Amino acid sequence: MSRSRIPPILRPRLTPKYVASSIAAIYVVYCWLWGMPLLSSKLPAYTGPHAVGTIDIESPCDGRKTSDVKYKSTGQPAFLLETVLFSVYYPAVKGAKSDKPNHLWVPKPLAVTAEGYAKFAHISNFLTNSLFTVALWGIAGSTTIPANVDVPLRETAPSFEFTDHGEGKPTEGNDGFPVIVFSHGMASSRTDYTHFCGELASRGYIVAAIEHRDGSGPGSIIMNAGGTEKTLYHFGLDDLDVDQSFGIPELKQAQLDFRQAEIEETVRVLRAINDGSGATIFETNPRKEGEHLASWTGQLDMTNVTISGHSYGATGALQALKGAPCKERPFHGGIILDPGKSSGPLNHDVDVPVLVIHSNSWSKKRSIFFGQPHFSVVKDLVRQVNKRGMAGWFMTSLGTSHPSVTDAPLIEPTLLSWTTGSSIDVIDGVRMYVNVTEEFMLYQKANRRTGLLALNVTHPEYDEKSNGTQQMPKCYQRFWQIHVAPDSA
Ligand SMILES: *[C@@H]1O[C@H](CO)[C@@H](O)[C@H](O)[C@H]1NC(C)=O
Ligand SMILES: *[C@@H]1O[C@H](CO)[C@@H](O)[C@H](O)[C@H]1NC(C)=O
Ligand SMILES: *[C@@H]1O[C@H](CO)[C@@H](O)[C@H](O)[C@H]1NC(C)=O
Ligand SMILES: *[C@@H]1O[C@H](CO)[C@@H](O)[C@H](O)[C@H]1NC(C)=O
Repeated sequence: MSRSRIPPILRPRLTPKYVASSIAAIYVVYCWLWGMPLLSSKLPAYTGPHAVGTIDIESPCDGRKTSDVKYKSTGQPAFLLETVLFSVYYPAVKGAKSDKPNHLWVPKPLAVTAEGYAKFAHISNFLTNSLFTVALWGIAGSTTIPANVDVPLRETAPSFEFTDHGEGKPTEGNDGFPVIVFSHGMASSRTDYTHFCGELASRGYIVAAIEHRDGSGPGSIIMNAGGTEKTLYHFGLDDLDVDQSFGIPELKQAQLDFRQAEIEETVRVLRAINDGSGATIFETNPRKEGEHLASWTGQLDMTNVTISGHSYGATGALQALKGAPCKERPFHGGIILDPGKSSGPLNHDVDVPVLVIHSNSWSKKRSIFFGQPHFSVVKDLVRQVNKRGMAGWFMTSLGTSHPSVTDAPLIEPTLLSWTTGSSIDVIDGVRMYVNVTEEFMLYQKANRRTGLLALNVTHPEYDEKSNGTQQMPKCYQRFWQIHVAPDSA
């Protein structure tokens, strides 16, 4: 960008006042994107019985194109799937030591993420990008994910046994580890939900957190098997070579279609690992992780997979359930967290059990969604699932706000309640999602309704003033309202 086109306010003048106000602006943008304050804490350790391992897997795709739309600047296709990238969190061998350093929470290079955020704020230039980089480094540059990189998978896959409280206890069995594929929201990446994913891994699940390259994230490095790298930045309508007929709704649909293709590619790679091609996946992984993947053969339950997502990712997860279960999308259950209010229509055509959870702020704020209250649309969607004879739950987690399931409140806890109205302890916030996810997994895998999922409807409509009712055991009253549950217990 030439200097003369930079608005006066952004022209580099390194006065203390300019730097201070830039930092304040960054703060505001960061808060706006995440609903979060600055000043970070460490990510907490996982609490389940297993050690947790993690691997980044990037795998070539054969140039699948989900839309013909091209970039204005280069004429290259914008929705071409060169590789798929995801982080796997898994139960690891106890005590296994990694010879690799823990993954950084903001993947390197930091500048890519920083520039992405600057682009979101429509103030990307050399100076702001540098300032964003410094600020991001200050906020979270040294934060690492407390999972052991590339350690061996725990040898025996669990099946489930039940206790009276409905907690699943992994025991010896040969079904393979239950697999959850997770899709992130807008302005996010694969590392924004690591506590949720890692905590589930510590309880015996394999979670694949995808990094979507649909232009909705702050930025991502695409690494090809040949060793070439390229940076994908956030892009929007202005960056695309489209005419009047292609607006925001069309862009969202194109992004969702791309996300679905990435979900399918993730399933393909996981299935290849389970079918004995782990060594090849490792060899073709430009991130050089997965040295033990050859021994993962037969360890993943790829016939009975769960799809999950948050916000934009929840809208995408619902879309991925259309026609599922099928070969490309072997999903027998969906965990849908805060389905998008502005990421396009929600797919109602769902034929597998689903658990839909709204954060408190998502239910509380009334939003009109294609002419109807968003809450009613979601409620209707879940009721239709029940009418089709599949189990559907819809509930609100009290005291939480939209980012409660992400890592952001764990890293920036102090001012959470000021900016987002969240009143719950931040760790409880994530854990309540983990707890109910486990209960849902037990239902999907063994048809047993336990814990919260064994209860009936308590609040047909969201009730801001109520803390749960006598119909609920006390331990749930502070945390939940159930709006839809399957008819038969
Ligand atoms: C999650 O479940 C564990 C074990 O049942 C329980 O001790 C904990 O209080 C639960 N946490 C939340 C936030 O529901
Ligand atoms: C999913 O797997 C469990 C056990 O692994 C099985 O009992 C259940 O019937 C499966 N569900 C479907 C829909 O295949
Ligand atoms: C749920 O409601 C049904 C009928 O409305 C009743 O038969 C059942 O016992 C209730 N279940 C629980 C767990 O309260
Ligand atoms: C709900 O719980 C909060 C804190 O736990 C309490 O301050 C509030 O008075 C309760 N409200 C009702 C209606 O019970």
